[in-house]
Amino acid sequence: MSSFNPFEEKPLPIEKTFMNWDTIYPCPYNKETTDPYTKCRIVLMNGTEFEAQWFSRNFSRHCTDNDLRRELALVRRIEQQQQKRISCLKPKNESILEHTITYEQLAVDLTSVLAKQEPDCLVRNALNFALLEDFDHLYRYSNLLDYEYGICPKKLVGGYTEITPARPTISEHRYPKDSIFPYVNNDTASILTKLNIGIITAAEQQTMNYYMNVASLYDKSDLGRRLYQEIGMIEEQHVSQYESLKDTTATWLEELLMHEYTECYLYYSCMQTECDKQIRCLWEECFVQEIAHLHKAKDLLCKYEGKEWQQVIPCGDFPELLCLRPNIDYVRSVIETTTGNTQLGECIVPLCTLQADDPFYCYQDVVNEKVCRVASHAVIDRYINSKGCDYRFEVAPNPICELQNRRCDNTELARNPECTPESTQVCGTTKGECSCEIQTEEGPFCI
Ligand SMILES: [Fe+2]
Ligand SMILES: [Fe+2]
Ligand SMILES: [Fe+2]
Ligand SMILES: [Fe+2]
Repeated sequence: MSSFNPFEEKPLPIEKTFMNWDTIYPCPYNKETTDPYTKCRIVLMNGTEFEAQWFSRNFSRHCTDNDLRRELALVRRIEQQQQKRISCLKPKNESILEHTITYEQLAVDLTSVLAKQEPDCLVRNALNFALLEDFDHLYRYSNLLDYEYGICPKKLVGGYTEITPARPTISEHRYPKDSIFPYVNNDTASILTKLNIGIITAAEQQTMNYYMNVASLYDKSDLGRRLYQEIGMIEEQHVSQYESLKDTTATWLEELLMHEYTECYLYYSCMQTECDKQIRCLWEECFVQEIAHLHKAKDLLCKYEGKEWQQVIPCGDFPELLCLRPNIDYVRSVIETTTGNTQLGECIVPLCTLQADDPFYCYQDVVNEKVCRVASHAVIDRYINSKGCDYRFEVAPNPICELQNRRCDNTELARNPECTPESTQVCGTTKGECSCEIQTEEGPFCI
């Protein structure tokens, strides 16, 4: 595909892009017939617009120039209209829990796609690390969905994504200080790395916010509400991890430019890969609006900081576009080699390398004081008690034998040092130190 540079496009004036109420309220998708990845793109772009909104608000709160704040307010109004329009593509008859399956499927397949094309080893490790956690969330929510609604989770994910445990959610609760990675250097990081960090941070933040809001709105059971609370805490951890990778030295206007460039890249990717005609038109319209935002951000950067856009984005050409697709073999290879890992300080390490007095254990002892009260475990336990074995959708047995027993939920893996799979790989993930790329059919990954 030939390269595309959004800085070379002719922008519309921002005022020409306001939308009326009928445009803001589109015809929702049909939940039975719409492709799961179309639903995933909708969740992704809703989260991207949320990030645009909250970035702009924080910028405005830290800005002393009212002319600049008026410019931000103008663009922000369109971002808000876009968010409204995209979020109401979700139909009324799709439940909170069905929509949750889309959130976790997006987390799995978006993270996999980004990790596969990520050139920076540190960022790729961070992606692979959280990938297994969202993958496990998909399994826990799927069991709840089948148990409480009798809806087939495999149908919801279209058979594109496996549903089976990975690093058990109970093992993902770590001491909060163990959720910060070193940040990348914007001067040396590739544009793909910067895009990937921004995209995944916004997506995880959207998931965190969604669970923060819906835990109290879930009306089917206390167990379900508790599951949203628990998994919401892991999403909080994911946001801390991903946002810590962002270069913290960028100025507000440099960040604004990068945000608008990311929106252009994502809508352009959505346009190119969308199979639903009506929704593809919507992505195209949003893309045109984002071109206007990008050029506005470029002008503001020049006016207020005297910088050209090339100083932030040296070559404006889009890198390889983002295409959501199945990643079953890739996820299997990551499960096989990294499920037994945890985070300690800024490093990802096998759990068995922790010292007995590392804070991971103290934190685990408090939050998981009684294993039977941990919702992510209780939901599987309840399912097994009622149906004999858990709900899974697998194309082959789980890649590690510790997770193959469907009649007993494993609460020890990656939590008890004696339960570390033999295939777990050791890796120093301190910046620039990684030398452990593993070849898979789909290319290299490192742990
Ligand atoms: Fe936007
Ligand atoms: Fe998740
Ligand atoms: Fe997540
Ligand atoms: Fe924008």
